[in-house]
Amino acid sequence: MNVGIDMGTGPEGAPVPMDIEELLATRLLVQGNSGSGKSYLLRRLLEQSAPWVQQCVIDPEGDFVTLADRYGHVVIEGERTDGELVGIATRIRQHRVSCVLSLEGLDIEQQMRTAGIFLNALFDADRDYWYSMLVVVDEAQLFAPSVSGDVSEEARKLSLGAMTNLMCRGRKRGLAGVIATQRLAKLAKNVAAEASNFLMGRTFLDIDMARAADLLGMDRRTAEMFRDLKRGTFVALGPAVSRRPLKVSIGPVETSARSTSPKLTPLPEVGGNVEDLIFTPDADELTRPLPRRPVASARPTTEILAELSKPRPELTPAPAPQSANPRPAQPDMTPEERESLMDQILEEILDNPNAAYRPDGELFQDFLVRCRIRRVPGAALSLSAFRRKMAIARSGVDAQTADSEGWRTALDLSRQVTEDLQGVFLLVAQAALRALPCPSDAMIARAYGTHSARRARRLLGYFEEQGLVVLHSDPFGRRIVAFPDLQAETAPGAADAPPEETRAAAE
Ligand SMILES: Nc1ncnc2c1ncn2[C@@H]1O[C@H](COP(=O)(O)OP(=O)(O)O)[C@@H](O)[C@H]1O
Ligand SMILES: [Mg+2]
Repeated sequence: MNVGIDMGTGPEGAPVPMDIEELLATRLLVQGNSGSGKSYLLRRLLEQSAPWVQQCVIDPEGDFVTLADRYGHVVIEGERTDGELVGIATRIRQHRVSCVLSLEGLDIEQQMRTAGIFLNALFDADRDYWYSMLVVVDEAQLFAPSVSGDVSEEARKLSLGAMTNLMCRGRKRGLAGVIATQRLAKLAKNVAAEASNFLMGRTFLDIDMARAADLLGMDRRTAEMFRDLKRGTFVALGPAVSRRPLKVSIGPVETSARSTSPKLTPLPEVGGNVEDLIFTPDADELTRPLPRRPVASARPTTEILAELSKPRPELTPAPAPQSANPRPAQPDMTPEERESLMDQILEEILDNPNAAYRPDGELFQDFLVRCRIRRVPGAALSLSAFRRKMAIARSGVDAQTADSEGWRTALDLSRQVTEDLQGVFLLVAQAALRALPCPSDAMIARAYGTHSARRARRLLGYFEEQGLVVLHSDPFGRRIVAFPDLQAETAPGAADAPPEETRAAAE
């Protein structure tokens, strides 16, 4: 016997059933402009079918997490490692627990990657677990876009591939796709084409109307009726609902219609806590590679960085050195040229006003990637060499001073303090060598990567304790930092000057 769920009412007020078994075999596409009632319709479908069939909702907005309380869906927050996602998806199939993958708060690229990995893992489940499952994807055009957008090619391929698997090859594996989209024209054609059931809601745009007409095999004039549909009203067509176009007003949500006896395989009684069942990782979850579809960024960042920072293999033959094009390998770059290219890269990174407050490790990664892109030859810098470079760059020393004997002494002296303090030391030292006003607390704090003026003052006190500097002040209480070893001292500078003013005064 078939299980028919009640979707709502037809033209004469008669209920409109949807045959779930048929739906499992023939899939469903819902389309309608934003606000036409698609998510409401999906909710109705999910609520009505929850007792009969396992469900998974790919939920970009976290709309469906409310199914958890009433229907026992496990909510899976999308912000997880690839390994975790695969493990959870695998157990979802194994234990046949309904779930909502909430992608709320992730950026679009992460949403695509997460959905792609999760869907692929459902798809790749062991043959023993190929039980029927409704896989509902709201806003499906996000995951199977018809054109490439701003996201990386990798994310797009992953997500589109997973959606294609779901809609085109999922049936044998028990996966039945139910997808909703606000713009048919934005949804990849091959993904839309695999659905045999349609629920068409209000549609304004001609291009979407034309696509709908083509899909449904209607002439375009008939498809005009989609334009005037009210919110919550859809035209249904397909083997699971109606063999001819049928207008349905979607019924209220949070009602249940447990009218008929099931023929679908009954869901198992899950003893104990389902969340424990699903979320407890298995032994190799964190290290398990993605089955069959490994993706580049599933690798650990450290591994990628190691690879990026390997010296580039020499290409043959070496390109003409007069080439202005920076793309070819630059094996005959002199050490000085290499140095200056790295300095330039560093400068670019530090140009970002937020750079001062980003952790060194992060800046270092950024640096390595840029070096790789710009084809800097030779072995990569170590983190500690990078820090030192950064300290020098952050000091704001000018070219002329940087060339002086005094600066070389300052660099030597700076080694007497720890790496994290060298930037501050050099900032003050270059001011002394150039007889500029003593940097303000705010400038010192910034060079140290903090917002705290108190901490900045403590740093100067520390340098004094080390015997590196002598602090004193002019009659107006402005600070002067003297460097005995450099035989230089800063001009007086107000400790509490705001950064711009100090800089302007320094100019
Ligand atoms: N059949 C319906 N009955 C009652 N309210 C509905 C119905 N369909 C949609 N709504 C309401 O209309 C609004 C928009 O519906 P929604 O499903 O979010 O649209 P969409 O997902 O197409 O953008 C929501 O507030 C929803 O509760
Ligand atoms: Mg919606």
